[in-house]
Amino acid sequence: MREDQLKEKLPVGWQDLEIKSFSKLPSTNDWTKKYLKENDTEVLVVAKEQTAGRGRSGRSFYSELDEGLYFSLGVKTPNISPTDLPLYTIATASAMMQAVEEELSLELEVKWVNDLFYHGRKVAGILTEGLTDPKTNTIDSLVIGLGLNLVGSFSKLDKKIETTAGTLYEDLPKNFSVENLLASFLKYFLSYHRNLTEKAFIPVYEEKLLGIQEDIYYIRKNRKYYAKIKGISHEGKLMIRNQENKIEELAAGEIHFSSQQFAKD
Ligand code: BTN
Repeated sequence: MREDQLKEKLPVGWQDLEIKSFSKLPSTNDWTKKYLKENDTEVLVVAKEQTAGRGRSGRSFYSELDEGLYFSLGVKTPNISPTDLPLYTIATASAMMQAVEEELSLELEVKWVNDLFYHGRKVAGILTEGLTDPKTNTIDSLVIGLGLNLVGSFSKLDKKIETTAGTLYEDLPKNFSVENLLASFLKYFLSYHRNLTEKAFIPVYEEKLLGIQEDIYYIRKNRKYYAKIKGISHEGKLMIRNQENKIEELAAGEIHFSSQQFAKD
């Protein structure tokens, strides 16, 4: 990734975004956290490879593909509440799906909350983390990390990942430009970030949501419940119709698709 080339393409209103590019880092999220503690500027950190990529729930995120895009955005969010964090994950997912469509003409789908899919396989994951100001004890900035699998194989990994993860391409197209993809992503993300309360990303996300009207199950207090997905609430929660035919909202935890199509969950 060429820092100077991306700098030229930054959206109006974010030309002061700091851009850092590395061939290899342990984790762009960890690098960004440290940067935000020491600097007042917002930053985009991109790496071609990560040696300690982190996923949600303490899992690791495989980041050593032949071609991968691993990046973190460090943004200042002085007025945010912890319940807004999932909204940033949703805004990020929406912005990346729009950028992939605009720049690569590929249509992605999303599995609530943070997984992007292409042809039934997970091709990207998002990890949003809040940083707390020790003086005020409130979240004052966010690190939003996204890993996008472009080209390569997962055959070195265990069978479960090999059959669920995918890449966008077998070979990178000649005209592929990581700078154009990121510039497009930043354009969409910035409008969502600056106008968070408008929540314009909710309908974008819902349109691409996997499993609408599909049967799912979720685990709560060690019990398994079956439900159907209805959509996304304004707070970014998953709306489901439970077995008593009532609408409920799921805030955290993981859903599982029951149908065959998504059995590779
Ligand atoms: C998940 O699928 O559980 C989330 C994966 C998030 C991975 C990205 S890659 C860039 C950034 N740096 C990390 O260590 N993790 C995120």
